[in-house]
Amino acid sequence: AEPDSGRLDLDGLRIVVTAGGTREPFDPVRFMGNRSSGKQGMAVAAAAAVRGAIVTLIAANIGTDAVPDGIAVIDVSTTLELEKAVQTAAGQADVVIMAAAVADYRPAQVRQGKIKKEATGDRLTVEFVVNPDILAELSAAKHEGQTIIGFAAETEPDPATLLELGRAKIARKGCDFLVVNNVGWKTGFATDDNDVVVLNRAGDIVMEVSGSKLSVADRILDATLTGV
Ligand code: CTP
Ligand code: CA
Repeated sequence: AEPDSGRLDLDGLRIVVTAGGTREPFDPVRFMGNRSSGKQGMAVAAAAAVRGAIVTLIAANIGTDAVPDGIAVIDVSTTLELEKAVQTAAGQADVVIMAAAVADYRPAQVRQGKIKKEATGDRLTVEFVVNPDILAELSAAKHEGQTIIGFAAETEPDPATLLELGRAKIARKGCDFLVVNNVGWKTGFATDDNDVVVLNRAGDIVMEVSGSKLSVADRILDATLTGV
């Protein structure tokens, strides 16, 4: 595909993008979170807006000062907040892109006061309960003509196994496309570059791309929305 300068090929398309990582508090001062920087999701939102889309960014615990004007930003923190925001926004959306790293579990109870070491002793056990799978819910509830795109972060060095994990995941989620990337201690999170494989519902590879998160964002939009 050609560089995207000046093309308005997503003109008027209503796109909801989630970005960042949810946090689950267990007392007033502590939470369980993840290392998602939100960069890839913000890049997707920015690239879509440049191409004429009407973009809503649901931002989980990321600084949004750098988000271009014209993108509506909704700040959330926990998974349940993100779920509510994205479900509300999805009703009017042509496309939902779940780039956020959503906490799989949240503490079973949130304490009113902080956990005190003196009362707890040498070990602390926190019980977690599973969070709703927002992507699966959106996919099950999607309306005619709507496109639902998931992201999968895996820590699998072997490319063939990575692909198998991706195929199993898109089958489980029921979304239209899954953007699979490998994350590790050094790659994927907080970096400016990314390396992804895009799968369709049938599990076929529709694109493999690496480069800056902004260029990867454009290519993801090409592969999923314009069929390029
Ligand atoms: N996701 C979601 N709700 C959750 C967990 C994940 O909507 N409770 C979404 C993420 O936003 C992402 C996709 O599902 O778009 C895949 O997330 P991932 O963590 O890779 O998949 P899981 O199904 O949680 O599997 P696991 O973490 O065990 O690999
Ligand atoms: Ca997960």
